[in-house]
Amino acid sequence: MRKKIVAGNWKMNMELSEGVAFATAINSYFKDHPLKDKEVILCTPFIHLGTVSSLLTVKGLTAGAQNCNDHKSGAFTGEISAVMIRSTGAASVIIGHSERRSYYGEDDTLLAAKTVEALRNGLRVIFCCGEVLPEREKNNHFEVVRRQLDKGLFTLPVEEFRKCVIAYEPVWAIGTGVTATPNQAQEMHHFIRDIIKNQYGPDVASDTTILYGGSCKASNAAELFANPDVDGGLIGGASLAKDEFCSIVNAL
Ligand code: 13P
Repeated sequence: MRKKIVAGNWKMNMELSEGVAFATAINSYFKDHPLKDKEVILCTPFIHLGTVSSLLTVKGLTAGAQNCNDHKSGAFTGEISAVMIRSTGAASVIIGHSERRSYYGEDDTLLAAKTVEALRNGLRVIFCCGEVLPEREKNNHFEVVRRQLDKGLFTLPVEEFRKCVIAYEPVWAIGTGVTATPNQAQEMHHFIRDIIKNQYGPDVASDTTILYGGSCKASNAAELFANPDVDGGLIGGASLAKDEFCSIVNAL
């Protein structure tokens, strides 16, 4: 059975003290409202990871990073490696977010290398894919997502692929307030599961968690999560407010 997950991507928000207070509040909420079979991941800035990881004590609630370097260690000023992330107690890392792809020029080859390095160090990879608006308008969105997954993820052997979660984040929906309709989300998630099936077989396809991201909030989460191929969400803006974020988790 595939996991149901809500991951919050804090992006570049919150000072250390704010992040610690926020994570403490989230931890105590889920102490009172057990997650049972669901998982919640707080993907914080690097500086929060050590402290936040150690204060999350609830079953199913863990910390994750938003990026990692593709090298193990060495002279890469300002970078953070997967082994360093793992050493904080964090369990996951987001790879291939559209903001990394577009603002920092991260291409499919680099993302494949980052994925391998993260998995080698025991991190679960949340691998992002998604088209920009002109690609959808030209009806190219399926091909774009297929290429991103082919090059970034499907080069993995099956036992490594099984440690990955996919997040479909249409770029036109990120931070815009425009959400994909439940039908658009289901259609793409179904397509993704289908190409996983071709690559790795039906059991792996059925076990793979596929999250939706892009202006997902408490008011639309339930209708998105009601789709058979939508297994949760990767949440940006709405992960920065406790009540809103917890409502999204409860909608799952
Ligand atoms: P928003 O939820 O703010 O649209 O961001 C989505 C996202 O980029 C999560 O990674």
